[in-house]
Amino acid sequence: MAIYTVSKTAPVNIATLKYWGKRDKNLNLPTNSSISVTLAQDDLRTLTSVATSETFSQDQLWLNGKLESLESERTQQCLQDLRNLRSKLEAGDSSLPPMSKWNLHIVSENNFPTAAGLASSAAGFAALVAAIAKLYELPESASEISKIARKGSGSACRSLFGGYVAWEMGSEADGSDSKAVEVASQSHWPDMKAAILVVSAAKKDTPSTSGMQHTVATSDLFQERIRNVVPKRFEEMKQAIQSRDFASFAELTMRDSNSFHATCLDSYPPIFYMNDTSRQIVKLCHQINAFYKETIVAYTFDAGPNAVLYYLEQNETKLMAFIYQAFQRNSGWDSKFSAKDLAAFEEH
Ligand code: PMV
Repeated sequence: MAIYTVSKTAPVNIATLKYWGKRDKNLNLPTNSSISVTLAQDDLRTLTSVATSETFSQDQLWLNGKLESLESERTQQCLQDLRNLRSKLEAGDSSLPPMSKWNLHIVSENNFPTAAGLASSAAGFAALVAAIAKLYELPESASEISKIARKGSGSACRSLFGGYVAWEMGSEADGSDSKAVEVASQSHWPDMKAAILVVSAAKKDTPSTSGMQHTVATSDLFQERIRNVVPKRFEEMKQAIQSRDFASFAELTMRDSNSFHATCLDSYPPIFYMNDTSRQIVKLCHQINAFYKETIVAYTFDAGPNAVLYYLEQNETKLMAFIYQAFQRNSGWDSKFSAKDLAAFEEH
């Protein structure tokens, strides 16, 4: 009996305009549109291989080498949607193997800590959905497939694209227009780089879904954010990306991270994702920009204390000299940022 198999990778994406709040929990429909930058394929990514055969007796998933349950409603929803699309294809072409009726074996591997506030669910669901769509030879566009990944984890829809990506919230109750679209390709603005400062690799204490529900239900500030802040910022950020305006992009990114964490703090009881080290990083970034009298770095924080810094490649040494100075006692520093850069920094 034949076994059909394919592999796909999906990188992590980090939102610069945050998705926070669901208007429909089952379909993962957001209360606002969002924007993200997808990291390079060889940085943080999930690699997923899928196989199917008439002989497989059940669906099975191995995540980072461990057999895991596939029972979650979200995963089941993604598998069902993909099987439905395949089944339509099979109905129109009797020469196709009837894969929609067969079980799947899925092997998925992250090259970074799972659930540490590093958007692992985004890359995970994107790779899962993209791999099965490829196995099934589905003709649908990446935007169409992104609607299925969205049901797994909202932010996963954005990892179906590289570069600069928008998730348009849509207005339909069935989610048919809530999808990811490309704002610009990676090559449009190729010198953008991201540095991740891992403040803690522990699992986050308030998962994003319950955190969002709590914020939507209890924060007054949240209403202001989705009505009067995000819609304008969404347009401005797309414009900043299209015109490669780093200063505007950076300010919008930092303001939006602060706005999202402010709504968490405004929830009752409050949710704290950032910690003292995170706040030290925020302060440091503003000091760096003030020091150079130019915006060279932007910070953003997701549902955890880790920082993602965006900067342009040509400013890497300028930035890392400061970061090294602040955190040099921590392990993990590459020697290329040691003595020479520090000396240059100390001369100022
Ligand atoms: O897709 P989820 O449910 O993991 O939520 C992601 C929420 C944030 O990472 C905080 C923001 C975002 O837009 O990715």
